[in-house]
Amino acid sequence: MSTLLSQLAETKAFILSKVKSASTVGIILGSGLGNLANEIKAEVAIPYAEIPHFPLSTVEGHTGTLIFGELNGRKVWVMSGRFHFYEGYSAQQVVYPVRVMHMLGVKTLLLSNAAGGVNTSFKVGDLMIINDHISMFTVNPLLGKNEEALGTRFPDMSEPYCKSLIEKAKSIAQANQLELKQGVYTGVTGPTFETRAEYKMIHLIGGDAVGMSTVQENIAAVHCGMKVFAISVITDLGIREEENIITHEEVLQAAKDAEPKLTMLFKELIKQVS
Ligand code: HPA
Repeated sequence: MSTLLSQLAETKAFILSKVKSASTVGIILGSGLGNLANEIKAEVAIPYAEIPHFPLSTVEGHTGTLIFGELNGRKVWVMSGRFHFYEGYSAQQVVYPVRVMHMLGVKTLLLSNAAGGVNTSFKVGDLMIINDHISMFTVNPLLGKNEEALGTRFPDMSEPYCKSLIEKAKSIAQANQLELKQGVYTGVTGPTFETRAEYKMIHLIGGDAVGMSTVQENIAAVHCGMKVFAISVITDLGIREEENIITHEEVLQAAKDAEPKLTMLFKELIKQVS
């Protein structure tokens, strides 16, 4: 067995030794978007530091806990806190939790993130359903020897975000008078926010939002056959005439302000996941 597969098997065995039931739904919460975790009737909460082979989260706003429990009547796995490439982890380490979710039987993965808007109709606080992404400014987590037990060498990426989950989210939004944008998320490594020229370029190549996560996780999830739904909270605007200084604090605050909308959407969506 490869090192990766034996590590995944150890991680799985450790986690399953603490959990009695199962779930096919997983959630990974982004920067400043950890509040959903408080609504879970937790059966088990395991700090990442205790989980064998898990990287450690270092960024403010990331609590770093794997939770298993009930949310809105449905059992779910939730990773509160994620790993970013800019923290110094390899692309493979960044996606390790996604592969763990797969090992735990997760078939549907919901992701959230904070992102900069480059679509000029977006406002701070908007929610954007990710209907596609541009991955070329990040490092592909599937580089290197392919792990056939996880997935194929050359995964199809024509539907990286599940259309039927997108439709469900749109119906939920409509029923709850929640405005949702849709668009293309452009993944970057960070940790610098973009220059004015970079935001403009991302807009020109078809991006609607830009952020430092999600794309690598999506690729690993699609590789192992999961259905993915992802949503961005627009926390800052990349294209503006006036002064355009962006801070991490501002991003976290905007994420916090928009969080109740996102929590409602995820809670309703998990009820409808088959
Ligand atoms: N750029 C990249 N990542 C981000 C941004 C941004 O403007 N806002 C939140 N995450």
